[in-house]
Amino acid sequence: MTNMHVSLPGLELKNPIMPASGCFGFGREYAQFYDLSKLGAIMVKAVTPEMRRGNATPRVAETESGMLNAIGLQNPGLEAVMEHELPFLADYDVPIIANVAGKTPEDYVEVAAKISQAPNVHALELNVSCPNVKEGGIQFGSDQEQLAMLTRAVKEVSEVPVYVKLSPNVTDIVGMAQAAEHAGADGLTMINTLIGMQLDRRTGKPLLANGRGGLSGPAIKPVAIRMVYDVSQAVSIPVIGMGGVSTAEDALDFMYAGASAVAVGTANFTNPMACMDIIHGLETFIHTENIDIGDIVGRSYRACETLSSR
Ligand SMILES: Cc1cc2nc3c(=O)[nH]c(=O)nc-3n(C[C@H](O)[C@H](O)[C@H](O)COP(=O)(O)O)c2cc1C
Repeated sequence: MTNMHVSLPGLELKNPIMPASGCFGFGREYAQFYDLSKLGAIMVKAVTPEMRRGNATPRVAETESGMLNAIGLQNPGLEAVMEHELPFLADYDVPIIANVAGKTPEDYVEVAAKISQAPNVHALELNVSCPNVKEGGIQFGSDQEQLAMLTRAVKEVSEVPVYVKLSPNVTDIVGMAQAAEHAGADGLTMINTLIGMQLDRRTGKPLLANGRGGLSGPAIKPVAIRMVYDVSQAVSIPVIGMGGVSTAEDALDFMYAGASAVAVGTANFTNPMACMDIIHGLETFIHTENIDIGDIVGRSYRACETLSSR
């Protein structure tokens, strides 16, 4: 039988595929399509201390090659997630990665301390990279000192390993990754969306009420691959890669670039079975090639080393 098992800090994954935060809610809708226990893990929607309605509409727009969103971290709030959403997910045999957000470091600490105690939460993902909120989010993810301070504060209170979600909207992604590693991050997840804009062709006004939004989907994959490739060689903590994954081949590309596991975001909206299709595709590849899933990780930089040492 094909072994797709991947071991990461806090996470024993049946397979390396998981839905990305914000693109799967808390799993309720997708549970109608397939058994959530078949996923490697689930990265749930960002959780803030208080309930948030998010930004004004319209807050999603299509572009020629991807999607723009400015949801603004809409979520039911920490208490409701603890009381309703996590217990719903506990019916499935799948580890949960809780996406933690807030306006201030105190918000992050509050959410992390409480949500990391939930029995089915096996890791936290620090959302320091949301481009769609006025306070919190990207301001922590684009400054190395602030990122390190926040990572340290959350590590102190968390009962489970902490993964930091990196923003691509920086000049030095490797520096940000190393800052998170030195501050004690157990892993990295990358990338979040790239700041973009789409204009109304008739009026010239931005299509999103927020003006700017986060670009996701196929358009960002080459950017994400390059960043995963650079970062995974510069740190010794594992990377979970994402950005434009919609097929098993896309997932393979991320693993070749150095990701130990892969998250699927926007593709879930167009194909609710995307994660299942990718898992099956990967299984077939591993089986046909007669290799272990771990053999794939970092293949491309090993190949480049061989080339450059010739
Ligand atoms: C509608 C939408 C909502 C998102 N909400 C969150 C969120 O709450 N927290 C977070 O860390 N990332 C959020 N993201 C970013 C995704 O998790 C992912 O990093 C990004 O979309 C890139 O992957 P993709 O191209 O496969 O979608 C959101 C993305 C989209 C499209």
